[in-house]
Amino acid sequence: MLAGVLLAMPYMAFAQQSGEAAPITPIPLVAPLDPAKVRIGEKLFSDRRLSRGNIRACTSCHQLERGGDDNRILSPGADGQPLDFNTPTIFNVSLNWRFNWRGNFRAIEAQNESALLDPRLMNTSWDELLGKLRADPTYVAAFTESYGGVPDRAHVLDALAAFQRSLLTPNARFDRYLRGEHDAISADEKRGYEMFQAYGCIACHQGVNIGGNLFQKFGIFEDPFVRRSRQTVADLGRFTITGQHRDRHVFRVPSLRNVALTAPYFHDGSTDSLAEAVEIMARNQLGRTLTPEEIRLIVSFLDSLTGDIKGQRP
Ligand code: HEC
Ligand code: HEC
Repeated sequence: MLAGVLLAMPYMAFAQQSGEAAPITPIPLVAPLDPAKVRIGEKLFSDRRLSRGNIRACTSCHQLERGGDDNRILSPGADGQPLDFNTPTIFNVSLNWRFNWRGNFRAIEAQNESALLDPRLMNTSWDELLGKLRADPTYVAAFTESYGGVPDRAHVLDALAAFQRSLLTPNARFDRYLRGEHDAISADEKRGYEMFQAYGCIACHQGVNIGGNLFQKFGIFEDPFVRRSRQTVADLGRFTITGQHRDRHVFRVPSLRNVALTAPYFHDGSTDSLAEAVEIMARNQLGRTLTPEEIRLIVSFLDSLTGDIKGQRP
């Protein structure tokens, strides 16, 4: 695990020397997608008919006006009981290299199919769902136009994925800074970014999504779980998928884009405070105790990662 942190040092030195290959890159301004397919996906994403009993839509938990999640610790499942994991944001989701906290899907389509069929999420079946969509002339016309036939499994998954790929949040002030607008972020935010690099946060939270492209253990220097009164199976992370001892408490590193909008934090939603999340990260992942001033500066940098959501400042 430490290898990731140590390896980042030469990488950062390289990036500074060469003036290129920056460890964080801006979100592209244009997503090349078929607008008609995106529109079908947008409609599906907020359509309650995607769930058994028409009781919930994808937007019930991935709320587009709330940072792409629902700001709950754990969303209630179809059985009314809290789900095992905090709901991640749907914004910039396509920039992740694996999906879900444990990274147990490699393709959005496969993740989405599991959300549709999961008895605790949408709790539907393909027969039930396609029956509803094929009975709706608007869907039939739109699918025929874009896909040349009535709604089927592959086309529903393709349209949903196209919509989710459209949910990029470009133009964060930090991205504008990376593109050369030196004044797009404040002096405090720059100092926060310097600490984010110098202390090694960037070893794990990096790339275009500032996370989402590595598996790492939660608790490298200190174990965040020992002091908790309640531990859950979900805390075991990828271990529950692979059964490998080395995957205990290993999670996909989350993206930090729009993080100011997506409290509560961590796989279990265990803190509502971004300052506390930063403090926990420094202590558990880097063995460093930050001063309140350092925490304030890093949080101010994280605030500069909020992008435009569907063309608007949130
Ligand atoms: C009841 C709340 C709920 C509903 C409804 C829901 N999701 Fe989710 N979604 C979650 C949770 C919780 C996770 C994280 C699961 C995990 O990590 O194991 C998640 C994860 C995801 C991810 C992966 C995010 C990432 O960062 O890797 C995608 C994509 C996604 N959902 C899409 C959908 C789609 C599409 C629908 C509708 C068909 C949907 N979700 C409905 C709660 C929900
Ligand atoms: C060794 C890898 C690693 C390092 C270094 C690291 N993180 Fe993390 N970070 C993670 C992992 C893994 C998680 C998910 C933890 C979990 O299971 O909930 C995470 C979660 C977070 C979250 C919560 C995000 C969310 O949406 O829930 C924030 C904020 C964060 N990190 C900021 C930082 C900051 C700031 C630093 C530097 C002080 C840092 N991280 C250093 C791996 C790392």
